[in-house]
Amino acid sequence: MVRGKFITFEGGEGAGKTTQIKRLADRLSAAGLQVTTTREPGGSPGAEQIRALLVNGPADRWSATTEALLHFAARRDHLEKTIIPALDAGQWVLCDRFVDSTMAYQGYGHELGREIIEKLQAIVVEQLLPELTIIMDIAPEEGLERAGSRAGGEDRYESMAVAFHQRLRDGFLDIARRAPERCALVPARGAIEVIESQILDLVRTRLNLDLT
Ligand code: TMP
Repeated sequence: MVRGKFITFEGGEGAGKTTQIKRLADRLSAAGLQVTTTREPGGSPGAEQIRALLVNGPADRWSATTEALLHFAARRDHLEKTIIPALDAGQWVLCDRFVDSTMAYQGYGHELGREIIEKLQAIVVEQLLPELTIIMDIAPEEGLERAGSRAGGEDRYESMAVAFHQRLRDGFLDIARRAPERCALVPARGAIEVIESQILDLVRTRLNLDLT
C-alpha cells in the first residue's frame, strides 16, 4: 500500500480555504485518487467536541496557553483517529488548518511566541508534517468582511481585534518564509478559478503528480 499525501490549507479568516479544498478534492478524485477532506479544530468525534469549546463563547474565555493546549489536544485525537489511518490506507488527506494555525493564531496572534508552540508540536505531531502547505494570504479587513457575511455562530475568533488578525497574518507570512520547501503562499484575492489553477500547479510540481 502506497502511503497517501498530506496537504494542509492555512490562512486567516475568510481566505477561501474551504472552497479551494473542495475543488482540489474533486480534481484529485476525478484523477482516480482516494481523498479524505478534514478540518481543524475537529475532524474526529472527540476533536469536534473540543472545537465547540474553542469557537464559541467570549473572546477572553481561555488564556493563550490553555487555548494552545486545547488545539493540540484536539489535533492529537484527529491525528490518531482520522489523519494517520487515512494516510496509511493510501488516501490523500486535505486538511483545513493544522499546526501552522496554532503557530499563527496562538504563537503570533496571542503572542505566546514560537518556542512553546514548537515544543508542543514536537510532542504532539512528532514528525508528521504535511508534504505541502498552501497558505492563502488575505488582508485581515477584507477576510473578516468575507467571513462576517457567512451564516451561523462560531465567531469567537472573528470577534478578536483587527490588530490580532494583522499579527497572525504576519505570522503566516513568516511561517512561509521559514519553511519554503513545505509551504507555498497563494494570494487569496483573485477569481476562484485562478486561485484553483495556482493550487493545482503547486500540487503538480511540488508533489510530482501527473494529472493529465
Ligand atoms: P475555521 O474558521 O477555519 O473552521 O477555524 C476555527 C477557528 O479556530 C479559526 O478562527 C482559527 C482558529 N484556530 C486557532 O486559533 N488555532 C488553531 O490551531 C486552529 C486549528 C484554529
